[in-house]
Amino acid sequence: MSIDPTLVERVRQGFGAQFGRDPDILVHAPGRVNLIGEHTDYNDGFVLPCAIPFGTTVALGRRADSKVEAVALDLDAAIDRFDLAMAPGRLAEGHWANHLRGITTALPHFGFATTGADIAIAGNVPQGAGLSSSASLGVALGLGLSTLAAAYEADRVALARAAQWSEHHYVGCACGIMDQLASACSTDGRALLIDCRSNSGEDVAVPANTAIVIVHSGVTRGLVDSAYNERRAQCEAAARHYGVAALRDLDTIALETGRTELDDTSFRRARHVVSENARTIAAADALRTGNLCQLGDLMRASHASLRDDFEVTVPQVDALADRMNAAIGSEGGARMTGGGFGGCLVAVLPAEGVNALCAAIREHWDTAGIEHQLLLAVRPSAGAALL
Ligand code: GLA
Repeated sequence: MSIDPTLVERVRQGFGAQFGRDPDILVHAPGRVNLIGEHTDYNDGFVLPCAIPFGTTVALGRRADSKVEAVALDLDAAIDRFDLAMAPGRLAEGHWANHLRGITTALPHFGFATTGADIAIAGNVPQGAGLSSSASLGVALGLGLSTLAAAYEADRVALARAAQWSEHHYVGCACGIMDQLASACSTDGRALLIDCRSNSGEDVAVPANTAIVIVHSGVTRGLVDSAYNERRAQCEAAARHYGVAALRDLDTIALETGRTELDDTSFRRARHVVSENARTIAAADALRTGNLCQLGDLMRASHASLRDDFEVTVPQVDALADRMNAAIGSEGGARMTGGGFGGCLVAVLPAEGVNALCAAIREHWDTAGIEHQLLLAVRPSAGAALL
């Protein structure tokens, strides 16, 4: 697993400083970048993310009682304390400890044991970038607490579902399951094609000479949860219109023939989901066979659909996507990644093209007067693990 050793050291030392002893276990769960398959997960569709070499590390120590005491090392050593004997209440929206309280409450519902614990937390996933810092925190805490309570190998899908439950009920975002599954189940060097109806995943090797570039648009994702929840509600309403359990159940023909009396916005939301599912399955094949030309076409079409039909891009993101695609040429492609409304873009391209792409991105920033942002070339990382 590619984890920054300084992060692990920081967490180990932070635990020692707070609790005056060594932790019993350390766990790490990564963030993710989604290659394609956007806003499809909560429509029971397909996604193709991979874990990234940034994540959340958690140190845990056993306690003799049922209390949980946690220190957030990245937030000026903020502390949260509660007793498992009483269900911990939800704090104000946006409070970091809702992740902890949520996962602690979720674990028993998903078949896991829990226990009192001393906990130190730190991470290095860029915040507000759409790289799933939140999922990596939930999965790391879930894996850590369940392992501390009973040293068995956690069921990874159940772990992801517990972290998703926590997002829904404590954090306040009605997210799909992609981020948590990517964090919990990914394999080194591989993307994960997930069927979000069955929650089953299939590893897709990313050829060794292929690079993944992640770049921040410079637009911080704001007011995201409400817009996200609104898109989700629109998709569910469209599924009801078509009389299907989820938009996953529609093909292009059913989409068109059942269109009567559906308003234009709902139709376009549904069209994005139907077309994106088909693109995601085709993209997994293209990646598997190293066909970067086809993959690039699919990524560009995904971006256009998210811009025109799903309407979750912003002009700065569109402009950067265009600039990146121009620099990449026909072999590979770039698109927005994650929930949208700013955040990051992702490109997949031959490794030898990375320097030219990065130069084009920097030049774009200079010409557009945008402050230089996060720009990384990564390989897919392993999912959550005990250290
Ligand atoms: C966020 C959510 C995911 C997924 C993406 C969009 O990252 O957490 O579940 O819906 O947006 O693809």
